[in-house]
Amino acid sequence: MSSTVEQVKSKLNIVDVVGSYLKLDKAGSNLKARCPFHNEKTPSFFVSPSRDSFHCFGCNKGGDIFEFVKEVEGIEFVDALKILAEKAGVKLINEDRSQKSEKGRLISVVENAVRFYRGELKKNIAAKEYLTKRGLTDDTIEAFKIGVAPDSWRDIYDYLKKLQFTDSEIERTGLVIRSPKGFYDRFRNRIMFPINNVSGVTVGFSGRILPTSNQMPHEAAKYINSPQTDLYDKSKVLFGFDRGRVLMRSLDTCVLVEGQMDLIMSHQAGHLNTVAVSGTALTDEHLRNIKRLASKLILAFDGDQAGFKASQRGINMALSEGFDVRIAKLPNDVDPADLILGDPHTWSESLKNAKHIIDFCLEVIEARGYDSRKFKMEVQNLVLPYIASLKSNIEQAHFVNVVSRRLGIDEGPIWSELKKLSTENIGATTKTVENSTEKQEVIKTSRAESLLKRIYGIILWQNEIDNVDVKMISEVIDKLKTIVGDGRYMMLDSIWQNSKDGLIFEAEVTNSGSDDIAGTLAALITDLEEETLKESLNNTIIKLKKAEQREDDSEIEKILKECQLIGENLSRIKQIKISNNTYA
Ligand code: UTP
Ligand code: MN
Repeated sequence: MSSTVEQVKSKLNIVDVVGSYLKLDKAGSNLKARCPFHNEKTPSFFVSPSRDSFHCFGCNKGGDIFEFVKEVEGIEFVDALKILAEKAGVKLINEDRSQKSEKGRLISVVENAVRFYRGELKKNIAAKEYLTKRGLTDDTIEAFKIGVAPDSWRDIYDYLKKLQFTDSEIERTGLVIRSPKGFYDRFRNRIMFPINNVSGVTVGFSGRILPTSNQMPHEAAKYINSPQTDLYDKSKVLFGFDRGRVLMRSLDTCVLVEGQMDLIMSHQAGHLNTVAVSGTALTDEHLRNIKRLASKLILAFDGDQAGFKASQRGINMALSEGFDVRIAKLPNDVDPADLILGDPHTWSESLKNAKHIIDFCLEVIEARGYDSRKFKMEVQNLVLPYIASLKSNIEQAHFVNVVSRRLGIDEGPIWSELKKLSTENIGATTKTVENSTEKQEVIKTSRAESLLKRIYGIILWQNEIDNVDVKMISEVIDKLKTIVGDGRYMMLDSIWQNSKDGLIFEAEVTNSGSDDIAGTLAALITDLEEETLKESLNNTIIKLKKAEQREDDSEIEKILKECQLIGENLSRIKQIKISNNTYA
């Protein structure tokens, strides 16, 4: 019997799949389009119906329908498979399992809550009027599945109980709160915005208080959000991300706003590449999700600098991820939602005219009209840290030059201030490596990590199987421990707690039917070992550069020895790969 992947492939053709994302033009027996993965004026992206694949001669990306959907949507293989399987009408192997699974039940609780709140909105004229007054069209309300929570204590709870969900299931979605007197609804008399994960599955809510509410302002926050749950991982989910991926990718730009209303109005105005953090801090996981699709990040702030201060950490993180960070300046005291309501055109203009964060900062400080000493100090405090965070040395050099000209001082002193800032940073990083909260190291998404995930997925999957080759698996685990370290290996289970099902699933669909699991694992392990060495070589070279800057000769010599050792190990692996003929 053919695997799920093959079944899906046999039912869908590449032209239909790619054509649902891009406008394809005929080019002989092939089709072409402007590449969605890089910026180009003349099409170098080709789709070949006969070979059932795509290839871009500009950026060299290519592959089958799965590869295309993964790339264009910025998602993992498993999610691409889900999307395409649904399109093809193919049942996934463990669909039954997932429907019965706990997580499936929780998703179903939330889906029903969405349905309930939407029904309530149809009955609630005041709430509907409020949304209309804020500028939301009926289409937008439908598209975002906006609803309303009635002004009562147990409506959602009773509704979900009638649908045979258990107290524990309902509580674990965060929709109700447990009290000594029983459960009561978390969201009352609020406009309800469903929050979706990357695959468009609703995992939580944000609720805005209604102006008609008789709750006093000091009793109820303007917005309340679902708590962190098994479904809703706040460090990963961005409001609006599931609807914005394709445009984000094609414009190579992501717009980041603060609030739910800002986001919805920006989407309504056609800027679907907008996402919102919605009441939680921006994390590097958020940024990494965005980075897979876009390299420019535009932040929208209302004129005052409160938002500016609050965002400093986020900006530094974004700069060190290598984002081109820009600021869209809005007219004083309006937020994007209000601006768009009055004048969508000005919003588009602000985005178009967004300035690089460092230019923006310099201008803001200049406009304050300080004397020259205070001006220099402000630049040192507010601007230099951003320059220090820049990932690219070339960009760094550019802005050092800009600052030097604006301040009318030589580049030398600016460089030495920067060096101080980056040694402070180095101090911080070596510390975290030393008391190795190993979790942080594993979090880095790299090729090594995705290899590790695949290997771990196969191990988990094999452990579920009756005729597992216990000896082979335990050898693989030993090898893995020597590569990643015992401690880190032990942590994998808890770190990937929530994605275990997915890992097993992926291992199952990509390897079931194979009669050489041992061979697959061996090849993956060799790749992992190689990647791990490459990463440590990179880190060692960074250490070397810093030591060179400090002119620390004995340290330099020590680091060079490390480099040599890593290099020897790398060539050993190359030999293995060449003799196995697996070198790509
Ligand atoms: P604001 O207070 O600026 O609200 O908070 P807003 O976005 O303008 O709201 P509207 O337009 O009156 O509806 C900005 C964002 O901070 C979060 C929300 O995500 C909000 O959109 N927030 C605010 C909370 O999480 N809780 C609050 O109590 C207030
Ligand atoms: Mn507002």
